Amino acid sequence: MKKSSFSYFPIVVAGVCLAVFVMTADAIKIDHPKYREADSDIVPGRYIVSFTGDSSSAATSAITKAPAKAAPAPANSSPTNSLSDSGTDIEVEEEFNHSLFNGASIKVDTENPEDEAKTIKSILDRDDVLSITPIRLHKRPEVIQGEYDPKVAKPSVLPHAMTQVDRVHEELKNKGKGVLVAVLDSGIDYTHPAFGSGFGPGFKVSKGYDLVGDKYSGSNTPIPDSDPLDACGAASGATGHGTHVAGIIAGFDPATNFTGVAPEANLAIYRVFGCKGSVGTDIVIKGLLMAYDAGADVISISLGTKNNWNAGNPEHDVINKISAAGVSVVISTGNFGQYGYYTVGQPATAAGAFAVASIENQFQTTYSASFTGVTEDVEYLTTGSPLMKNGKVVASDATFTSTTDACTAASISSAVNGTIALTQRGGCTFEVKMANLATAGATGIIFYNNVDTVVAPVSAPKSLIPVISIAKAAGLDIIASLKKGEVTAEFGKEGISESDLGGSVDYFSSVGSEAALNFKPNIAAVGGTVLSTLPSYLGNWGVLSGTSMAAPYVAGSVALYVKSQGTTKQPASFIYEQFQNYAYPVKVAHSNITDSPMRQGAGLVQVYDAITQTTHVSPAQISFNDTATTNYRTKTLTITNRGAQTIAYELVNEVATGIAPYDVATSGYTPLEPAVDTTAEAGIKFSIKTFKLYPGNSQKVTVTVIPPKTNPADHIFYGGNIRVISKQQNLSLDTKIPYFGKVGITKTLPIFDTDGFPVIIDPQSNLYGPNDTFTYDRANKATRPISTVRLLTPTKRIKADLIDATTQKVLGEFFTGYQYMGRDLLVENNQYTTVFWDGNYVPASLAGVTDAIPAPAGTYLWRLSALKLLGDEANKNDWETWTSGPIVLKN
Ligand SMILES: *[C@@H]1O[C@H](CO)[C@@H](O)[C@H](O)[C@H]1NC(C)=O
Ligand SMILES: *[C@@H]1O[C@H](CO)[C@@H](O)[C@H](O)[C@H]1NC(C)=O
Ligand SMILES: *[C@@H]1O[C@H](CO)[C@@H](O)[C@H](O)[C@H]1NC(C)=O
Ligand SMILES: *[C@@H]1O[C@H](CO)[C@@H](O)[C@H](O)[C@H]1NC(C)=O
Ligand SMILES: *[C@@H]1O[C@H](CO)[C@@H](O)[C@H](O)[C@H]1NC(C)=O
Ligand SMILES: *[C@@H]1O[C@H](CO)[C@@H](O)[C@H](O)[C@H]1NC(C)=O
Ligand SMILES: *[C@@H]1O[C@H](CO)[C@@H](O)[C@H](O)[C@H]1NC(C)=O
Repeated sequence: MKKSSFSYFPIVVAGVCLAVFVMTADAIKIDHPKYREADSDIVPGRYIVSFTGDSSSAATSAITKAPAKAAPAPANSSPTNSLSDSGTDIEVEEEFNHSLFNGASIKVDTENPEDEAKTIKSILDRDDVLSITPIRLHKRPEVIQGEYDPKVAKPSVLPHAMTQVDRVHEELKNKGKGVLVAVLDSGIDYTHPAFGSGFGPGFKVSKGYDLVGDKYSGSNTPIPDSDPLDACGAASGATGHGTHVAGIIAGFDPATNFTGVAPEANLAIYRVFGCKGSVGTDIVIKGLLMAYDAGADVISISLGTKNNWNAGNPEHDVINKISAAGVSVVISTGNFGQYGYYTVGQPATAAGAFAVASIENQFQTTYSASFTGVTEDVEYLTTGSPLMKNGKVVASDATFTSTTDACTAASISSAVNGTIALTQRGGCTFEVKMANLATAGATGIIFYNNVDTVVAPVSAPKSLIPVISIAKAAGLDIIASLKKGEVTAEFGKEGISESDLGGSVDYFSSVGSEAALNFKPNIAAVGGTVLSTLPSYLGNWGVLSGTSMAAPYVAGSVALYVKSQGTTKQPASFIYEQFQNYAYPVKVAHSNITDSPMRQGAGLVQVYDAITQTTHVSPAQISFNDTATTNYRTKTLTITNRGAQTIAYELVNEVATGIAPYDVATSGYTPLEPAVDTTAEAGIKFSIKTFKLYPGNSQKVTVTVIPPKTNPADHIFYGGNIRVISKQQNLSLDTKIPYFGKVGITKTLPIFDTDGFPVIIDPQSNLYGPNDTFTYDRANKATRPISTVRLLTPTKRIKADLIDATTQKVLGEFFTGYQYMGRDLLVENNQYTTVFWDGNYVPASLAGVTDAIPAPAGTYLWRLSALKLLGDEANKNDWETWTSGPIVLKN
């Protein structure tokens, strides 16, 4: 099966019009043990082929050079390598002749699906081919823009005190000199003074490559060149993401004292995004291998999906091999936290990835404005709309009495045209008011609150004109002044304030765990409200928020650690553990409760301690799995005293908040978006609670969890930290081992949302329930049935059987390869998984690779079977099925 194109498509459920992407599955069906299907965002006709053998194997390198069978190349074929004589032409796009990954990415003509299938099958049948995986797209990470006046950089808002990076710089005199950090991102404006205004040997940005070119979108052919410069220009819509990321790692600006985490490290910049669009997994693999070959000590990656499987795709294989070879691979977990649990995404879910969650900066730049007739400066907030310009202010309500002003166009005073409108909050949404006032010609909007706090309108980035918000009292002061005469305002007086969310996990930071309950995220760093460099075309400096900003912070931290080790090269796994051992578990905002490891991993990175402390605990994170069996309740920790003095230790259990992914009574097993906190305290039994370690000695301790007694039907995640208390704090600090587990049996969770789903729809959006007959005239594509499911829970596999309605016999599969599917979200374009049926199927009677054949005219049923999460494929009870109403096929 192939999902080859996306079309935007409205379907109507319960009277609400919802937008949904429909994937079309045309005639290509590949059912082969070596074929690895991917769940979404597949690029049509492009695949990654993985070969047996290693890079030195002549046979392996030959496969990309010679046809599979001796086929003469067509006289006028394009000058590309050919892998196959059957089916269609193949272009080899990228060759990975590498000790860590031996394979190629290929492009196959998609015009005739049957030829395409034949071609893929002929490759799969080769002995020297290990697997074929469709290329997927990673979307460009979305970041939240903060307001920033580009005139001045304010290094005092840097978060280095929160993470001990300032102590590493000052006390250890370690700024990462000579360590090489590779970045896979959108390129860099290395002409920025914070990067030393150059590229190549002798410069901070000492290495790099543009793998794709400006116009690369993820689906078209990359045009590489040797220069990773981001010169997209403001008009392109580029966000300068890669430049921001690079500044966090290693920027240093002498004029302002702006400093990244490792300001003396070198950067190797691999540009994998064009000015807009996505990146294919083949390019990510190529960037990883280039970074490894360049001798990078650390690789920083801020991109990914929301699919939380650690699936065996080639991208994960390469990440695991690179980290096993000693290079840390630090990856952002994603910005889907507001959509609940199970949102930490690939490739951060790879076992060898150090997956980073985001914590809010303690400091933020604040702004105040002065108004005619108002004695005190007025503090204001904004969230990413354009910068407000000084000017005349008028009330949008000429009578000063309305409590719903600007909710309708008619209510707006004509005086706002060409001026800044002062408007009260209330009566309708900020968005409605912003649209009405923009239409009325206002040049900016000042919202005053209905209470005396300042609330930033979260929808402000959607506004066409600048938006700020102020407190109620300030609004009334301005009204009083307006009643006396003309008021003008002057904006942009900067200050620094402490954020009341500072030091807590950001709402957007994706929540774990991995689908099979592997421990993710692993660690956290400051990614919320981060000042860093931007390309000159975006004003050189800016504040952005996202896990994209947290991952490079950890990459820079690892660079400092690597520098501290001199010629000693610790394995990446040891470095990850050392950072987790000394991370700081942060609290839930406005409370004294430690936040869950599902949100923060081990906690906020503490670089000085990671470098200087000598007690080491392995493993440094624990998943106690669910309560389906008792097999995972006991783990063994090894505590090692790597210092020069004897230390006495004591182990204690410190509980963190539990996480409730569902409100079963109200909304069943539809995940809460976001997940909510709950009380769930596990007990931990230790085989030995206190002990003493001489220098160089280790102690093994078995820890056994006693899960909390919450209702298993609620599937609550409990969590906490095992604290290894040191009795000699001046010799060794405490270490913490984060743990989590789940009360409940995961394989009892439903996969399909059955509230209106699964359902068949036609291209006109009509729904067909199990009692309705669908008629499909093969000659008319507009009558094709579309399978529409909503996945509440990730599933490893969905089987789609075609059944003869009369005999009830299974004829074969009408879709194949639905594997490692993440859960659907309640957000636009992520709500459903939909596939067109083309009237073909793969007969059950034919084993292995077969062509799909057209189903004869007749009446059929569809049966979708989904494997329960953590279920056993061989156990019939671990599958959930749904059967459609009759589908009449006319040929
Ligand atoms: C593949 O790598 C091997 C070993 O590094 C080398 O001998 C061979 O020439 C390479 N082949 C290609 C096509 O680059
Ligand atoms: C930068 O730091 C140095 C040393 O602490 C200090 O002398 C200088 O004034 C700082 N420059 C700015 C622009 O803050
Ligand atoms: C605002 O004023 C300008 C020029 O005075 C005029 O062209 C425009 O139509 C006005 N806009 C509205 C919405 O009244
Ligand atoms: C949890 O248990 C399931 C079997 O029930 C297993 O497949 C999975 O790998 C386990 N995960 C972890 C992290 O132990
Ligand atoms: C946290 O604990 C401290 C001291 O125990 C207490 O003063 C404070 O009010 C608590 N804060 C919250 C938000 O509960
Ligand atoms: C650590 O503290 C203990 C007593 O608190 C003291 O006897 C010992 O000398 C200290 N060791 C070091 C290395 O400072
Ligand atoms: C389908 O028909 C059966 C029998 O008439 C009825 O019990 C059931 O509620 C119907 N289902 C739907 C979804 O309409």
